[in-house]
Amino acid sequence: MTVSDLFDPLPLLHGPAMRNRIMMAPLTNQQSEVGGFLSSFDQDWIRQLSTGGYGLIQTSATIIEESAIACARQPGIFSDAHLPGLSEAATSVRNGGGLSAVQLHHAGHRANPMFGGTPAPASSRTLPGVAALTTQEVQRIRDNFIAAAKRAERAGFDGVSVHGAFGWILSEFLSPLMNDRTDQYGGSMENRARFTMEVIEGIRRETGPDFQIGWRLSIERYGLRLEELQEITAEILRREMIDYLDLALWNYGQIVDEGKYRGRTMLSVFTEIPRKGVRVGAAGRVTSARRAAQMLDDGCDFVLVGRAGILDRECPKKLAADPEYASPQLPVTAGFLREGGLSERFINHLRGWPYFVRPGSV
Ligand SMILES: Cc1cc2nc3c(=O)[nH]c(=O)nc-3n(C[C@H](O)[C@H](O)[C@H](O)COP(=O)(O)O)c2cc1C
Repeated sequence: MTVSDLFDPLPLLHGPAMRNRIMMAPLTNQQSEVGGFLSSFDQDWIRQLSTGGYGLIQTSATIIEESAIACARQPGIFSDAHLPGLSEAATSVRNGGGLSAVQLHHAGHRANPMFGGTPAPASSRTLPGVAALTTQEVQRIRDNFIAAAKRAERAGFDGVSVHGAFGWILSEFLSPLMNDRTDQYGGSMENRARFTMEVIEGIRRETGPDFQIGWRLSIERYGLRLEELQEITAEILRREMIDYLDLALWNYGQIVDEGKYRGRTMLSVFTEIPRKGVRVGAAGRVTSARRAAQMLDDGCDFVLVGRAGILDRECPKKLAADPEYASPQLPVTAGFLREGGLSERFINHLRGWPYFVRPGSV
């Protein structure tokens, strides 16, 4: 495929088509106000992205309960009081011509009491002295994922992306290492996947026919088993439960190092699954036009841009204009990011990432 193929529209099962195959990955940036209200910095960032040419923009991880919080200044979608800020963000994206999705997040056992979080582990063995969630608590959290999706719809978002990656609550429940429950949400693979399934099914049931559902899945760490994730994904795709699968890889070329799929790329294990009308994309070092086009050859319908989108808010436009485009190299100076329009809050967040902001730069 060529770089220009990235700019073919991509119809989704529900609602409007993506105008191209480039999606903004969810990027936590710790800019919101206390209580999860979107700040003027959040709105500036979304406005900058909106004019960058993305087919779809995901928000940063947005908490579905007040107690679900992982870090300071995370945005929230757990109260109607969040609606005005969310509506403003959704309107910005729509005015720029892209589709929008709120990433729905619960931190699970990593909910942080320092910021008002209540650790919510699948298992009593995960954190000393913290009991596993009861069945009723799991169902309350499930219902709050669904309520948050309805709120996103009311705010004018085209959809939501269900955060099932990186050991956060839904990923935690999928893991046989972290989930030793004996109720209907633990034990067999089917039971461990039930939480995810019920969240997705509930969102589909309670939102309108045009509302889009994405599911973000990561494959590495947290005791997750690739073979199981492949089977669960195959079921979700077979039943067309979602509009798009977003594979959260750190390197899209990552090779599987053990088990049945040893020696293959992680991506290929998922792109070979029959997907019916569901679209499949991946993140992981999409830093140039050539790499993005290569991912279409590797079986993706779309690509997700993360760090390259921070380094240049107009990344999709640059990809469209120059098939040889490559994003700036990391690390960069704080001054570079500031000149690009990032707030001090965002820059401070990035100082916590390895190899992002050059140490000592101002
Ligand atoms: C600053 C930063 C914040 C991130 N925040 C989130 C997040 O809120 N939710 C999430 O699912 N992934 C998050 N990620 C992961 C990215 O969405 C993406 O999957 C990852 O950076 C790989 O893509 P890239 O190589 O294009 O950056 C974050 C990554 C970075 C660098």
